[in-house]
Amino acid sequence: MNEALWLLDSRGRFEVRSTSRPTPREGEVVVRVRAVAVNPVDALTGPVRRFVTPWVRYPTVLGSDVAGEIVATGAGVTRFSPGDRVVGHAAGQERVRNTPAEGAFRNHVTLLERVCSELPGDLTFERAAVLPLGLSTAAAGLYEADQLALPFPTAPGTSRDGEPRDGGSRDGVVLVWGASTSVGSNAVQLARASGYTVIATAGRKNHDFARSLGAETVVDYRDADVDEQIVRAVGSRQLVGTLAIGRGSLAHAVRIVRRSAGTKGIASAYPDPITRLRSLVERPRGIRISSIWGGTPVVSPVGPAVYRDFLPQALADGRFRPAPEPRVVGTGLAAIPGALATLREGVSATKIVVAIDPAPAPYAVPADAVSADAAEQERDQ
Ligand SMILES: NC(=O)c1ccc[n+]([C@@H]2O[C@H](COP(=O)([O-])OP(=O)(O)OC[C@H]3O[C@@H](n4cnc5c(N)ncnc54)[C@H](OP(=O)(O)O)[C@@H]3O)[C@@H](O)[C@H]2O)c1
Repeated sequence: MNEALWLLDSRGRFEVRSTSRPTPREGEVVVRVRAVAVNPVDALTGPVRRFVTPWVRYPTVLGSDVAGEIVATGAGVTRFSPGDRVVGHAAGQERVRNTPAEGAFRNHVTLLERVCSELPGDLTFERAAVLPLGLSTAAAGLYEADQLALPFPTAPGTSRDGEPRDGGSRDGVVLVWGASTSVGSNAVQLARASGYTVIATAGRKNHDFARSLGAETVVDYRDADVDEQIVRAVGSRQLVGTLAIGRGSLAHAVRIVRRSAGTKGIASAYPDPITRLRSLVERPRGIRISSIWGGTPVVSPVGPAVYRDFLPQALADGRFRPAPEPRVVGTGLAAIPGALATLREGVSATKIVVAIDPAPAPYAVPADAVSADAAEQERDQ
């Protein structure tokens, strides 16, 4: 049995329908989905949905966050074999992929090997599913050449005496505004793994959480003097980059970088219509504002640098922790619309996750298997 949760139109009507099973092409794997997480982009409806992803045709299959088991590998994939447990960024909603066969909300999904990571045996699918879009968005902001362009995180190695060794430390501070968001939880850890000191904002009840991810100092973004507190915390150090996550974050970030020494780059995960205008206004002051697109690592060198070269080992030795905490709200594809409703109510340092039935039927690439291209035709079903 293979089913998908189809989004029938941009207004947000969903239906679970049976669908054909994909077969992997070069560089692709097919994964039996065991857990998915939902993201704000999945919860958009109406004109906002059409504005954010205008290229998507309906019906379509949403979802970026997948954890599951490999059932088939395409040509050129040597890193994985059937049965391997992985987490991966499902790219079906990206302009460059744009196919329902690669949307996470299905029993079997096609993923690009370059944005998949093997999971350690003790990490559950539900915990791992919190990672992909938050991780990719944080990585895009920190590492893409047209964003903060910081050095990639270092895969923690093991020295000859068996002791873990650090990737080293660098001078400079990264400011993560919104550390208790999914994007921010990953950004704090990635920036630390790149060797930087992290100063962060989060709601007061999440300060311990942000510190546990590696932030040196955490300030409540609701404090009237939040900018002043951050400028003081940075002190005479260089601010090497700011990730602005959450409503209103960009205005604060601009005020802070104006008053701090450093490279004055701000990557915004919350671009709105005036972000571009603000970017033009601030440029003469040497402040460079960029808008993050979390799907960029799916095709850029940042994807493999994080998913192949860093994450598997960092998860295995506990240096990187799937965060924020999962809250499993149901089981099965039909539970996903309810999960989206829960997300719309708001979350705090939590990722909404849905477990997917194990569907134990053995996977065989069927004679009428469809490639990702042919899966486009599924829309007409
Ligand atoms: N550009 C892209 O490609 C891309 C991709 C993914 C996400 N995003 C955007 O990035 C943002 C975060 O997404 P997410 O899924 O990571 O969010 P999330 O986990 O759903 O965010 C929930 C958290 O937001 C925090 N928060 C609320 N208002 C805030 C503010 N003004 N400043 C800082 N933190 C605030 C809350 O903190 P406390 O509970 O601690 O108060 C809460 O923990 C959203 O705006 C989302 O649309 C963009």
